Amino acid sequence: MKRIIVTGALGQIGTELTLKLRELYGEDNVLPTDIKEPVDSPLEGKPFEILDVTDYEEMVRICKEFNGDTMMHLAALLSATCEKDPQLAWNINMGGLVNALETARTLNLQFFTPSSIGSFGPSTPKDNTPQTTIQRPVTMYGVNKVSGELLCNYYFEKFGVDTRGVRFPGLISHVREPGGGTTDYAVEIFFEAVKNGKYASFIDKGTFMDMMYMDDAIQAIIDLMEADASKLEDRNAFNVTKMSFDPEMVAESIRRHYPEFELTYDVDPVRQGIAENWPNSIDASEAKRQWGFDAKFDLDKMTDTMIEAIKKKL
Ligand code: SER
Repeated sequence: MKRIIVTGALGQIGTELTLKLRELYGEDNVLPTDIKEPVDSPLEGKPFEILDVTDYEEMVRICKEFNGDTMMHLAALLSATCEKDPQLAWNINMGGLVNALETARTLNLQFFTPSSIGSFGPSTPKDNTPQTTIQRPVTMYGVNKVSGELLCNYYFEKFGVDTRGVRFPGLISHVREPGGGTTDYAVEIFFEAVKNGKYASFIDKGTFMDMMYMDDAIQAIIDLMEADASKLEDRNAFNVTKMSFDPEMVAESIRRHYPEFELTYDVDPVRQGIAENWPNSIDASEAKRQWGFDAKFDLDKMTDTMIEAIKKKL
């Protein structure tokens, strides 16, 4: 039986991950934590701990008290936020990760943390980007993500901590909106389509990035954590993705529901710059081969699901 501590549980991934883990492993076996109280969150009213991941002592105390065996470390700033305050990004993303890995080492916890397509940079092959390739990112987020991948490998090799991770593409969901990410346009576009019938994208026409629906992302975390360790040749981090699209393609998919949907552009130079340094599409074949990664939502299925859910929500 697993007993799982989640950091950053109020974030886009953490919220849905906590709900799913509770369904699978039982409510008492999952402890979500975040830096603030769960207000207006589906996690409100259930066991929850306040945790600032830069506070190592507190992290150890909470994990000890809960008597967990697994940590899923999600607390981090996303790409555009990191560019606004790179020092803060380093402190939270790297400081938090070192604390979490040390906690996992000390308390013998299985460990998951996500890396990202942001770990790639301008010299990375852009199409069908392999699992093992050039990673020379030029953003603080990218520097954090590559360092994090290496650090997780180090903790596995040096201390035997069972660290596992994936490189997530942009994740699309309707339960909790992301914040400060470069791929956030692909979430906003659905909300705006339903609410206003139009959207001004901060990412330009023709900019392709990898994407995945949240249900597939959550399932990937669970499958990787459950995978037989002897089958894992890589650990941190596996390329995972389902689709690659640009804003026009999402608009086309949305027009199957709202034929009048209008897409315009108001390009944000910072986020556009970040996007242009990321791959167009990554190759997830190693994740498929080593632990059976499988994603079910293609663009149209995801669009149908998003629109349906957002309509209900509003
Ligand atoms: N969705 C993330 C971002 O845009 C990518 O990891 O920052």
